Amino acid sequence: MGELIPIHPDVEAFLKREQKLLIGGQWAAAASGATFETLNPATGQPLTVCAAGDAEDIDRAVQAAQRAFPAWAALMPNQRERLLHRFADLMEAHKTELAQLEVLDNGKPWNAAYNVEVHVAINQMRYYAGFPTKLTGETYAISSPDFHVYSVRQPLGVCGAITPWNYSLVMAAQKIGPALAAGNTLILKPAEQTPLTAIRLAELALEAGIPEGVFNVVTGFGETAGAALTQHHGVAKIAFTGSTEVGKRIVGASAGNLKHVSLELGGKSPLIIFDDADIHAASQAALWAIFANSGQNCVAGSRLYVQRSIYDTVQSALAAAACALKVGYGLDTSTQLGPLISQTQLDRVLGYIEAGKRDGAALIAGGSRIGGDLAGGYFMQPTIFADAADDSLIAAEEIFGPVLTMFAFDNEEEVVQRANASRFGLAAGVYTNNLSRAHRLARTLNAGVVWINTYDWFDPAVPFGGMGESGYGRELGRQVMEMYTELKSVWVKL
Ligand code: NAI
Ligand code: MG
Repeated sequence: MGELIPIHPDVEAFLKREQKLLIGGQWAAAASGATFETLNPATGQPLTVCAAGDAEDIDRAVQAAQRAFPAWAALMPNQRERLLHRFADLMEAHKTELAQLEVLDNGKPWNAAYNVEVHVAINQMRYYAGFPTKLTGETYAISSPDFHVYSVRQPLGVCGAITPWNYSLVMAAQKIGPALAAGNTLILKPAEQTPLTAIRLAELALEAGIPEGVFNVVTGFGETAGAALTQHHGVAKIAFTGSTEVGKRIVGASAGNLKHVSLELGGKSPLIIFDDADIHAASQAALWAIFANSGQNCVAGSRLYVQRSIYDTVQSALAAAACALKVGYGLDTSTQLGPLISQTQLDRVLGYIEAGKRDGAALIAGGSRIGGDLAGGYFMQPTIFADAADDSLIAAEEIFGPVLTMFAFDNEEEVVQRANASRFGLAAGVYTNNLSRAHRLARTLNAGVVWINTYDWFDPAVPFGGMGESGYGRELGRQVMEMYTELKSVWVKL
């Protein structure tokens, strides 16, 4: 055991309350009175009780967001900026509390919660806080002397954000920031497994002075609250991060009023190591590419391709490193990997491991649930398979757990073809010291982001999103502002 971080008194007080929905600046129980418990996945024990919003609550939230929209959209850009900066300042001031809530609700290690999750969410909020004064249209060089033609960017109206449980705060902030900066109002439906930091964010938004109805939070389940948000005709856009299956359903639901949709979905991302690479650095990167966040990561480097001459070396290095990872409670500072999010997720991941064994892949590390002191939580051993067939289930499907599948390859052309033989196209990594090859692969790999001699880096300034069944639309970067605005052209006869 390392040092155990004591629970902050404000977190204890927060957990003792019954959690409510924030609709139009008012905290309210669900109209139906329904509630659900959120669990600590490290213990399987309930943390607190939340309101289970459904279609009726979503409808009230949409109405509140519609009422708040005209004044928020008309607020001077520098005033919107000031409010968003104040919101980011409050997130910073409550960083410890937010990080602890995320550790308890999600299970992730303290360092990952404090120095990654909350840190990144604050940076994103600050990045977008600066945008209201930088949104511009254009003037056009039309082929006629009789007109002055220009465009303006206008907010869409009421937006909906539906977020997953793996990076709850980051996924929320990268939607809240640009939506509000552009002058939209927003309803956030956080994942039912990790609703707590969204509720705390809503309190901080109110405290920052963000007007009532501009930012609403409706906790509840996907099939009820989530589905109602995607079907509502008062909603102009849905920004979704989650499974490919639900993403497809959202596209269907959006047809009713042709709402805008942006989708960040699953992946089965390849990481390719050539024999001219720094093998130690590449092996370390491969380890964290798959095991960060216990593999519950949309960009997880879950398919590892290693050139045959170094395959055995990398395989033994990885197997040893995987077995040495410290799995445990998030508030124990020596912990490197937390639990999976739920029994459901654990069962799903164990199901893939059984399928891998059945299909004849070689299990070279891990493979089981962890018992003993950790038996109450949903802990898994970091797991590595070798020699899986390219078309087997564990080589093709997103597992979303600490399970790596590694393959040997012979040459560049072959590995590009195998890496691209996937319905997903979210991320890819390449380790090589051959400059031409690095750029060639960056060009030919089907992925929304390619990392060269590194993996899993993000910055608010850099666009992120996928190809194929990993979704469409991009988040982050300056161009995301286009996804939260309409472009209007104006013709003036001179
Ligand atoms: P999910 O896609 O069901 O959940 C994500 C969010 O969508 C949650 O807020 C949920 O309440 C909501 N949702 C669910 N059904 C909905 C519906 N019909 N309409 C509107 N919203 C809905 O993902 P889940 O079940 O938590 O995880 C299942 C698998 O999905 C994972 O094993 C993983 O493979 C993948 N996943 C991928 C993520 C990513 O970042 N790419 C994040 C979460 C899950
Ligand atoms: Mg939870």
